[in-house]
Amino acid sequence: MIQAELASSCRHILGASDLTKDDYLGLIQSAIHMKESGRYPQVLAGQSVALLFEKPSLRTRVSFEAGIHKLGGNPIYLDHKECTIGEREPINDLAEYLSRSVNAIVARVHSHKTLNELAEHASIPIVNALSNREHPCQALADLMTISEHIGSLGGTRLAYIGDGNNVCHSLMLASATTGIHLTVITPAGHGPANDIVVESMALASISGAELIVTSDLDAVVGHNVVYADTWISMGQDSDSAKYKIFLPYKVTQRLMKIASEGLDQESFFMHCMPAHRGIEVDANVIDNPSSLVYTQAENRLYAQNALLVALLTRSLESPEV
Ligand code: CP
Ligand code: NVA
Repeated sequence: MIQAELASSCRHILGASDLTKDDYLGLIQSAIHMKESGRYPQVLAGQSVALLFEKPSLRTRVSFEAGIHKLGGNPIYLDHKECTIGEREPINDLAEYLSRSVNAIVARVHSHKTLNELAEHASIPIVNALSNREHPCQALADLMTISEHIGSLGGTRLAYIGDGNNVCHSLMLASATTGIHLTVITPAGHGPANDIVVESMALASISGAELIVTSDLDAVVGHNVVYADTWISMGQDSDSAKYKIFLPYKVTQRLMKIASEGLDQESFFMHCMPAHRGIEVDANVIDNPSSLVYTQAENRLYAQNALLVALLTRSLESPEV
């Protein structure tokens, strides 16, 4: 069994910078091993993981539920879509109770502050399954997918086009940590949060990654991968004015061709999904053979399982395959 040992001392994974470069490389190796071998260490035999979801989900919920089963464990889905976490009872009471009853908490929340509060009061690992600020499990699966298709992370040129949102933030931090050159292209006024830019720049200066944040679409030239996400994230109001501003940033076949300029291979297309065909990306880009969207989605399970194994074997007995 290939199992990643986390170098990072973080007990919780709330953001993409909670993992070091070695963590990413080890987790990706472990995830690829699970994918290729079909063998899953039974580290969660007799254990449970609570899944707290304040927002809808297809991929994250399915990949965690199916993944935890494969590790021998029992996922307990707690639907908070009707009732925000902390509404029925204080978060510290919830965290204290769950710490005595399950082995980890996976949470998809409206406010990132909810995760910080859970982490403050829980004695078991908390994993961010998406917040308004970050989506680190997505970034981990995305890096695994890049690693599978391009070979190495360091030196890969990735362009993120669209809204400077949670997915963009985690991609920035994970890329800067691992040496991926990232160009973030957003309409003016819709860029990533300033503190994420500052943190990513600091990480990039250590790894040697280049990070460019711009509104200039011409900056897409010469990127191995083009990445898009929805223009309106969960919890945001649909806004026709925003669609108008974002229209030039739609990923089309023409834009993919420009991205490939100077490369000896067609650029890959990535999207965390759910994708809106004809809005942020044309359908023929998603359906092109160079699109990795379904592989990214599939890789969520392996990447998250590698993470759960690494996090939980710190506190549980030695696993057996
Ligand atoms: N990419 C992702 O997190 O998908 P879901 O919202 O369907 O979980
Ligand atoms: N930015 C999107 C990602 C969905 C997986 C959202 O938060 O809705």
